[in-house]
Amino acid sequence: MNFDVILSGGTLVNQDGEGLRDVGIRDGRIAQIGDLSRASAGERVDCRGLHVLPGVVDSQVHFREPGASQKEDLESGSRSAVLGGVTGVFEMPNTNPLTSTAEALADKVARGSGRMHCDFAFWVGGTHDNAKHLGELERLPGAAGIKVFMGSSTGSLLIADDAGIAEVLAHTRRRAAFHSEDEDRLNERKPLRVPGDVSSHPVWRDEETALRSTRRLLGIAREKRALIHVLHVTTEEEIALLADHKDLASVEVTPHHLTMDSSEYQRIGALAQMNPPVRDARHREGLWRGLRQGVVDVVGSDHAPHTLEEKAKPYPESPSGMTGVQTLVPLLLDHVNAGRLTLQRFVDLTSAGPARLFGMAAKGRVAVGYDADLTIVDMKRRETIRNSWIASRVGWTPYDGKEVVGWPVGTFVRGAKVMWEGDLVTPSTGAPIRFHAAL
Ligand code: DOR
Repeated sequence: MNFDVILSGGTLVNQDGEGLRDVGIRDGRIAQIGDLSRASAGERVDCRGLHVLPGVVDSQVHFREPGASQKEDLESGSRSAVLGGVTGVFEMPNTNPLTSTAEALADKVARGSGRMHCDFAFWVGGTHDNAKHLGELERLPGAAGIKVFMGSSTGSLLIADDAGIAEVLAHTRRRAAFHSEDEDRLNERKPLRVPGDVSSHPVWRDEETALRSTRRLLGIAREKRALIHVLHVTTEEEIALLADHKDLASVEVTPHHLTMDSSEYQRIGALAQMNPPVRDARHREGLWRGLRQGVVDVVGSDHAPHTLEEKAKPYPESPSGMTGVQTLVPLLLDHVNAGRLTLQRFVDLTSAGPARLFGMAAKGRVAVGYDADLTIVDMKRRETIRNSWIASRVGWTPYDGKEVVGWPVGTFVRGAKVMWEGDLVTPSTGAPIRFHAAL
C-alpha cells in the first residue's frame, strides 16, 4: 500500500465516533482509514496527540472582492481562513459589482481559482431584477445558492417586501439563505440610534426586528414549500420559532453571538458592531440552548472586515461587521474545552452540517473517495489570540488578547498540506466546491 500522505497516530473525529485512526491520502482524496503503520507514503505527518477533523467549512464570509480590496480580497480572506483551520468558504454577494448575474459569479470563480488558499463557493444575491432567473443562477458552477438581504446592511442588496421574497422562493429549488431583519421596522426605528453611542445599535435593530422578519419569512416559505436557511440567528425567540419549522428552515449562529454579549460595546465599542447585533446575555444563552437542543444546524463566522479607520467613525457612521473566519475554530474549540459542546457536535456544525444542508459533493466527512479536506487541531494548546496573527487585510479581531485552549495546527485541502503550525506551506490551490445540485 502506498499513499501520497499518511496522517498517523491522530484521533479521528468522524461520523462513526472518535478513535485512533490513520488517514491515507492519494490523489487528493481519502484512500484509506485505519491502521496504516505498515504502509508507505511520500510524506508521513505525525499527528500523535492531535485530533483530525473533517475540513471545517465556513458557510458565511465576506471577502470584499471585487470592489473593496482595501478591506479584503479573495487571497487575503482565504489565507486568513486556512491559518484558522478552515478548508472551505461560501462567500457573500454584497461585493461591487454585486454577485447577482452569471457573469459576476463566473468572474469571482475565475478570480478565486488557483489563487484562493481554500476551496470556495459564492452565494448569488437575489434581487427584484434577477428573481425570475434564480433557478438557473443557483445551479451554475461555483454557486452555493441564493442569498437575500431582507433588511439593509452593508451594500445595496435588499428585498424587503413579502411579494419579492415569494417570487424568490417560487424560483429556488436549492436552500436559499436569508439575512432576516425587517426593513420597515429598521426604518421606523432609525431615530433610536444615539449618535456616538454604539450601545444603541441593538436598541435600533431590536429583537422584534429579527423576529418579525423571520416570522414573515417562515410563512412565505411554507406557502411556497421552499427550503430556507436563516443566517446568523440572534434571538432566543427565533430559536423557539425555528424549532417548529425544521422541515423547511435551517439555522446558522455565529461564534460572535455565542461568545459576546452587549457588555462588549463598553469594552471595544464599534468593533463589536454587526448586523444583526450582538445582544444581551439572555439571547446568547438562548442560542446555546438552541445549539444543545439541535435546533442550530451550522456555525458560520460572518467574517465581515472593515478597516479600523472606518470603525473609528462615530456611530452610526461606523460600519457593521467584524473579522471571524480565522477565529472560528479556536473560539469553538475553547467552548468545547469549557464543556459547552462536544467535539463531535463541532464537526456536525462545521462540516457535516454544511454538507447536509447545501449538498456539497464529496466533502463534509472523512470517507474513502471523499476530498482529503482535514482540519488538525491540538485540543490542549493554550494560545492568546492577537491582532498580529490575523491575516485579514484589516488586521484586527474583536478577540485581541483573549486566551483560548484548543488551536488549529494543520489545514489540508484536497490532500495538499496548506497550513502547518501557523505557516502557509503550499501555494494556493483553491477550487470551486462541487454541489449535488450542479453536477
Ligand atoms: O454586520 C454585518 N456586516 N452584517 C451583514 O449582514 C453584512 C456584513 C458586511 O458585509 O459588512
